[in-house]
Amino acid sequence: MIAQSKIEEIIQAAPIEQVIGDIVRLKRAGANMQGLCPFHQEKTPSFSVSISKGIFKCFGCGKAGNVVNFLMEYEGLGYIEALKQLAERFSVEWPQFEQVNQEQESQLKNEKESLQILNNWAGTFFEKNIWELEEGKLIGLSYFEERGFREDIIKKFKLGYAPDQWTAFYDEALSNQYNEQVLISSGLVKKSDQGKVYDAYRGRVIFPILGATGKLIAFAGRQLKKDEKSPKYVNSPETILYHKSNELYGLFYAKNAIRKDDFVYLVEGYTDVISLHQSGVENVVASSGTSLTEQQIKLIKRHTENVVVLYDGDAAGIKASLRGIDMLLEQGLNVRVVLFPDGEDPDSYAQKMGSEAFSAYLKNEVKDFILFKIHLLLKESAGDPLKKAQVTKDIVNSISKIPDSIKRMAFVKEAASLLQMNEQLLITELNKTRKDFLTSKEKEWVKEEPLPVIVEQIQGLVQEKGSLAQEQHLIKLLIQNAHIELVDTQSFVKVFFDMVANAQIGFENETMLLLVEEIHQFYLSNTPITVELFTMHANPIISGFAANVLTERYQISNAWEDRFDIIPDSEDKVVKRDIESALLYLQLHNNRKLMTETLESIKKAIEMNNEEEIRLNMEIYQALKQRESQLSSDKGLVVFE
Ligand code: GTP
Ligand code: MN
Repeated sequence: MIAQSKIEEIIQAAPIEQVIGDIVRLKRAGANMQGLCPFHQEKTPSFSVSISKGIFKCFGCGKAGNVVNFLMEYEGLGYIEALKQLAERFSVEWPQFEQVNQEQESQLKNEKESLQILNNWAGTFFEKNIWELEEGKLIGLSYFEERGFREDIIKKFKLGYAPDQWTAFYDEALSNQYNEQVLISSGLVKKSDQGKVYDAYRGRVIFPILGATGKLIAFAGRQLKKDEKSPKYVNSPETILYHKSNELYGLFYAKNAIRKDDFVYLVEGYTDVISLHQSGVENVVASSGTSLTEQQIKLIKRHTENVVVLYDGDAAGIKASLRGIDMLLEQGLNVRVVLFPDGEDPDSYAQKMGSEAFSAYLKNEVKDFILFKIHLLLKESAGDPLKKAQVTKDIVNSISKIPDSIKRMAFVKEAASLLQMNEQLLITELNKTRKDFLTSKEKEWVKEEPLPVIVEQIQGLVQEKGSLAQEQHLIKLLIQNAHIELVDTQSFVKVFFDMVANAQIGFENETMLLLVEEIHQFYLSNTPITVELFTMHANPIISGFAANVLTERYQISNAWEDRFDIIPDSEDKVVKRDIESALLYLQLHNNRKLMTETLESIKKAIEMNNEEEIRLNMEIYQALKQRESQLSSDKGLVVFE
């Protein structure tokens, strides 16, 4: 854990306009600065930076946060990584860890550093072989050339060659003072049962694997001739620098293009990534043969929500990877696919077609995944009713993974028409499948209900977003004016928590709940509540939220008052009125919810013929009803029935 005070020190030392200014051309606009948003494509600037508050917000795509959040988002870094990068750049001393951990920490750091130094050196060794060593030119370079890789591309990906001798690499490493222990832990050399040390990659071409920030963290070596006795690729083992399931090959080279295009091509192999680059397609990453892990999907999500999976054209391979794709759907990604002709993979097809035809193919052949899957499975099950039932189940299962209910329903419609099935039947099937992993809220509304009811309830959910806006608004007011005096000189924050304690107001949104808890901590410990507590908060969810709600698109200009002689209410008065109505709204909303729940109880009690229950709940309902009219009449509000 890093101390909050250190986080603040770093944020204060790092001028947000400078960090963002490296990436975005910022122009002054009133008290803020403005530019084209680096997170989505736009022609007119809606990206705003407030120097005084130290935050940014895009009014187009909604991204917002402080300087740390910006780096995380833009560079795809973790929180600590981003902080550390800023600390280094703006010369803030990076904290020493606690005494007990210090030794472990520094040992780990040493190990990491030595492995990094070794990897860098080894990368250069392999790369040099291809351009300078006779054997390397003859075998390694000509292998790549035969595959159609251009020289600039071979250089860009730092491809290399390991001589076909038992200890060529090992000897060279020893004479450069690398010790055996590091060499073995890196996986670059191995030790036989007889205790002989030998080169792991001998006689192979080398693909260096870079982490998301461009560090050389591992190697893959491909055999040159087909040889069943040894694996096609040799890969680095798990090390302190390389966790296979957390990395995507090519991400470092793809980051900018992914951001620009707002989608990523997902392929299987190293050579697919390289060939696509050669064809001018740079937003591409590879899963390196294995099925995607959750961490890899999260990594993708940091950069884009849109994935296009490129499939080799062999049926067995496609069926095997269908499951991996359901995982992408589950994480809320939008998935499309491109299928290549039988026997081709993205690499071979790009080489065969040439850049232009290949790019056109990608654009023309892209299909939505679920529809693609329906077509694929239907083809297989043609004429076989039993199989068709299986297909339906399978499709419904994929659709059920989509978290967004509206999208889900749209797919149900399309699937029904493609499968030539009754939509209602599919929905029933879908709801059965979804029950297993519904959120508790969804459980309430997805029963085996007929469509009209579900539609109504979806609308209900959408409407609830109105209450989220209100929750946000109240929290924003609280952060900005916690200590303002309301009735009887009680501070807003006190009034607020009294109302929470009396269950007069409640919050439904998780982020808002998180904030309420956080503010409560400050309140209990008598910490004066300031905006900075939130914009510099260690939890990126909180700092992101704060930046988001605290940035106003338009600033009220004093010029209006001067020009038209308008005397606005004093700011204090406006704020107080705003607070009052925000509190009132949530009270009403809360009350409404209780009324609905009570009505439900009454219905049930009637079904059960339980008179006692009926009477009790009627009384509660009356009381709530009365409270509602009191709340609304007090403040002159109208409640629509
Ligand atoms: P080329 O056949 O040279 O075009 O390579 P490729 O990348 O197309 O290989 P392939 O389609 O056979 O495999 C896809 C990916 O799976 C590779 O890029 C590797 O990441 C991984 N892979 C394939 N074979 C092996 C293997 O034997 N061992 C390991 N560890 N990974 C492999
Ligand atoms: Mn291939």
